[in-house]
Amino acid sequence: MSVIKSKGYNVVIGPGALKAISDFLSGKDYTSYFILCDENTFRHCLPLLITGCPQLGSAHIIEVDSGETTKSLDFCTYIWQTLMDYKADPGSLFINLGGGVVSDLGGFTASVFKRGMDFINIPTSLLAMADASVGGKTAIDFYNVKNSIGTYAQPRGVFVYPFFLNTLPPMHYRNGLAEVFKMALIADKELWNSLKSLRVDSDIDHFLQKSIELKNRIVLKDPFDKGNRKILNFGHTMGHALEALLLETGNELHHGEAVYIGMVLESHISFQKKMLSKK
Ligand SMILES: NC(=O)c1ccc[n+]([C@@H]2O[C@H](COP(=O)([O-])OP(=O)(O)OC[C@H]3O[C@@H](n4cnc5c(N)ncnc54)[C@H](O)[C@@H]3O)[C@@H](O)[C@H]2O)c1
Repeated sequence: MSVIKSKGYNVVIGPGALKAISDFLSGKDYTSYFILCDENTFRHCLPLLITGCPQLGSAHIIEVDSGETTKSLDFCTYIWQTLMDYKADPGSLFINLGGGVVSDLGGFTASVFKRGMDFINIPTSLLAMADASVGGKTAIDFYNVKNSIGTYAQPRGVFVYPFFLNTLPPMHYRNGLAEVFKMALIADKELWNSLKSLRVDSDIDHFLQKSIELKNRIVLKDPFDKGNRKILNFGHTMGHALEALLLETGNELHHGEAVYIGMVLESHISFQKKMLSKK
């Protein structure tokens, strides 16, 4: 198990992550627990979480639909209503159990409920483990514009339990690798070379660890995206535009797919610009 120190919280990675959640909860005095999941993480991940952390047996479960369209004001309202109904207070803990959609939506709703309640991220997709759960950015989509409403809010902890990946559909696994490739391309030539030569699947724990370390290093230097953190947006400007375009027409391009296309387009544009400036 490895522990990476971030902005006021730890990112725990490895098979001991569930035990680490249980220890974390035992050391706190939360009045109640709320677990946000979608139908897939409800089915595949929640039973494992509760078995590993018996304290969560009494948690209120909030289940939302899977997919990007859930990152919306309607679902925020649903979550805030549930928190009110079950009398969540500033002493409650909100737990995001899911992919990047759950951590973005749940992080946002928790960060503004009663001016902010504690939350932790338990990422279950590769994309959320390697990227979305770390760094303190939360957001929902509004008016078909990706991540247009959100906050910078740090979780109290991030717990990466790679075993959850066993049930992740292969398509979403490939999507998650987009963010690992991005991290290597922008920040670590050695990681890029090893990604090309090693077997990604069998070494996924290693790549996860590297990816989180790299993102964390960049985020700690620029937590509010004013300078160098913008390099994390490689592939995202074009990617988000494509995602938004498809959302508008009622279709979905998965985030990872959009990032792959965005990286190719943005590299091409920057290459063209360089060539033109040489003429
Ligand atoms: N805040 C950030 O820093 C940041 C960074 C990158 C991406 N994002 C956001 O992350 C989102 C994409 O995240 P994603 O790719 O994880 O999408 P997602 O949350 O929709 O998850 C992908 C699919 O996998 C399913 N799933 C997740 N874990 C599973 C498991 N263990 N077993 C079975 N099924 C599982 C989900 O139900 C969903 O159907 C986008 O909205 C993007 O904007 C945020």
